[in-house]
Amino acid sequence: MKPRSKILIIAGSDSSGGAGIQADIKTVTALGSYAMTAITAVTSQNTTGVKSIVAIDPKEILNQIIFTSNDINPDAIKIGMLHSSKVIEIVIKSLDKIKVKKIILDPVMVAKGGAKLIDNKAIKLLKNELIKRVTLITPNIPEAEILTKTKIKSKEDMIFAANKLLEVGAKNVLIKGGHLKSKTVQDIFVTNSDIKIFNSYRHKTKNTHGTGCTLSSAIATFVSCGKPIKKSCELGIKYVNSGIKTNPNYGKGHGPINHLNTIFIDRKFKL
Ligand SMILES: Nc1ncnc2c1ncn2[C@@H]1O[C@H](COP(=O)(O)OP(=O)(O)OP(=O)(O)O)[C@@H](O)[C@H]1O
Ligand SMILES: [Mg+2]
Repeated sequence: MKPRSKILIIAGSDSSGGAGIQADIKTVTALGSYAMTAITAVTSQNTTGVKSIVAIDPKEILNQIIFTSNDINPDAIKIGMLHSSKVIEIVIKSLDKIKVKKIILDPVMVAKGGAKLIDNKAIKLLKNELIKRVTLITPNIPEAEILTKTKIKSKEDMIFAANKLLEVGAKNVLIKGGHLKSKTVQDIFVTNSDIKIFNSYRHKTKNTHGTGCTLSSAIATFVSCGKPIKKSCELGIKYVNSGIKTNPNYGKGHGPINHLNTIFIDRKFKL
């Protein structure tokens, strides 16, 4: 097959391959599209934790975005980890230049262990300037709490927080419910005229490394192919759920999900 669309991913590298740019490329590819990248940081990590993070010079991030997009125009953009206000500023500057309309923002702010990954100035800029430029924002519960200065303990709290994000200019909000202790996983999609609760089977596994990155890339891919945003969220959640269900159980810690769950190898390619 030929790629159905072209996606630019702006995010950090995860050496273990389960999250970050690596998960994004696998997702876009497994869903039939062409992936391009602008790397914001290089992390050394495995399934048990992060050893080190090296930030890429913001000027180089800008170069990757502009030089790549000027040649191959992306149909959609997925934005992941932006660790400083300088990086957020250059991403805003480049988005204004390249004028791609479909943009999915995964506002990565909190590490799995609960540590804040970005400072208050960066959070303010993200909230005041970046959110209004994107099609969809996909915070998890801790990120939605930071962005809205609310506490989230229930689906009503999730809807309240989503409405606060609409008030600051978000067009579509998907608050991910992986962190709540509910029986099923509830991801809630909210716009000014719609609320949709996606209920999914909660798998009992520690292997959920990179679910957030994978979900936003899957949504970006579906949107880039012309699917409506709500449908793209539904399809993205299904892709992640199948990936968790069939995870390969790699590593000693929080292992990756199975990004290949959509792929069937033709017999003639089998060894
Ligand atoms: N145990 C699980 N079973 C089924 N689905 C899950 C499970 N954990 C997370 N998900 C799904 O994975 C997606 C990502 O949700 P989550 O709340 O884990 O995001 P996140 O915290 O940003 O992930 P990450 O840790 O990769 O940053 C959501 O669609 C959520 O429903
Ligand atoms: Mg996340």
